[in-house]
Amino acid sequence: MSSIKSIRAREILSSGSTPSIEVECILESGASGKASVPFGASAGSHEASVILDGDKKRFRGKGMLKAAGIVNNAISKLLVGEDALSQRKIDGKMIKTDGTENKQKLGGSSILGASLAVARASANERKRPLYMHIRDALDVNLKGFHLPGPMMVVVEGGKHADNSTDLQEYLISIKGKDKAREKVRKGIEIYLAVKDVLKSRRYNTNVGNEGAFAPSGMPDNEEPLKIITEAIKKSGMKDVGISHDAAASEIFSGGKYILSKEKKELSSSEMIRYFENWAKKYNLITLEDPLAEDDWESWTEITKKLGSKIKIIGDDLTVTNINRLEKAIKLKAINTILIKLNQIGTLTETVDCCMLARKNKMDTIVSHRGGGETNDTFMVDLAVAVNSSFIKVGPSRGERVEKYNRLMEIGEELRL
Ligand code: PGA
Ligand code: ZN
Repeated sequence: MSSIKSIRAREILSSGSTPSIEVECILESGASGKASVPFGASAGSHEASVILDGDKKRFRGKGMLKAAGIVNNAISKLLVGEDALSQRKIDGKMIKTDGTENKQKLGGSSILGASLAVARASANERKRPLYMHIRDALDVNLKGFHLPGPMMVVVEGGKHADNSTDLQEYLISIKGKDKAREKVRKGIEIYLAVKDVLKSRRYNTNVGNEGAFAPSGMPDNEEPLKIITEAIKKSGMKDVGISHDAAASEIFSGGKYILSKEKKELSSSEMIRYFENWAKKYNLITLEDPLAEDDWESWTEITKKLGSKIKIIGDDLTVTNINRLEKAIKLKAINTILIKLNQIGTLTETVDCCMLARKNKMDTIVSHRGGGETNDTFMVDLAVAVNSSFIKVGPSRGERVEKYNRLMEIGEELRL
């Protein structure tokens, strides 16, 4: 038994120039652990709720003092004295006390910060790397480790940039059997090749929220695919696929998908045809949120049409939520799930969601957030613990590269 002595939160800054929280858990033994919480810019409406201060005089209403206060009062009362090594029990207590479907009472950020800080303190107490501790603490019954490949956002638009594309992200996914360090190098070199191609086409190379290029003046939503295809070819790299995240809920309005750049308003079946055309022309290996978060029937349709060749990934659709994943499995709506810790709000539920996906022969991809990230690298250890196929992270900006640096560190440890 390793009892929790204290659990405290403070308001910190995230990469989106808005606050978030950091939580520190100290055990009676003296071991301790800290964790911080990110948030999304294009968050799905079924995600765990975030409690903001709403005080317009501070950070335009987005202060997180209330969220920190909930950790320091309600959550601290609940968890002090509890055994930190019983992660499932700790998370269960917070879920039960909250009692709402979307964690409205205690707030997703406060619950998640506490959940992750407890896991880190326990890993430190046991002197185990965090990824191994996650396996032990939550009975992840997997043989061996397979490190995730980098899925790097190289061009971004939508809500992550101004005046770029309507659709949100264009990525490169590094496959193959190379070691983690080599895969990260490959990804970064292609990112630099994308920069060269952008310059040769007279686009600017400023970066957006996730550290990807966010060029203004793109004529349509297909241009980044042409640029990336050329960059991959120029780089001479093998085992690289193109990925895309449409974040389609963001452009869905009045039953239509609005592509302003192309002056198009597409029905669901037209949107599916739009992506079928892309799949024919480009080396597209994954397609995330190609349709809106409640357009379930169309998801089944696109997975039926493209799912044998392409990973159809649910993000806003499934929000790391077991109930929504179960529905997606039943409807054959996806074949891969994106995982974000703060979408659901506890480590236990996140790991259970990953294991349910695995049981149903689905890949998991653990992802950063586009709204505000922190330097915390917990998501990488999670991805390693559950043998995710990729981690989705941007290739520049401190809060993103920290994730790749952690992946390479684990790679060295495990010689993978
Ligand atoms: P978000 O976007 O974190 O801003 O929601 C990332 C994504 O959609 O994958
Ligand atoms: Zn997404």
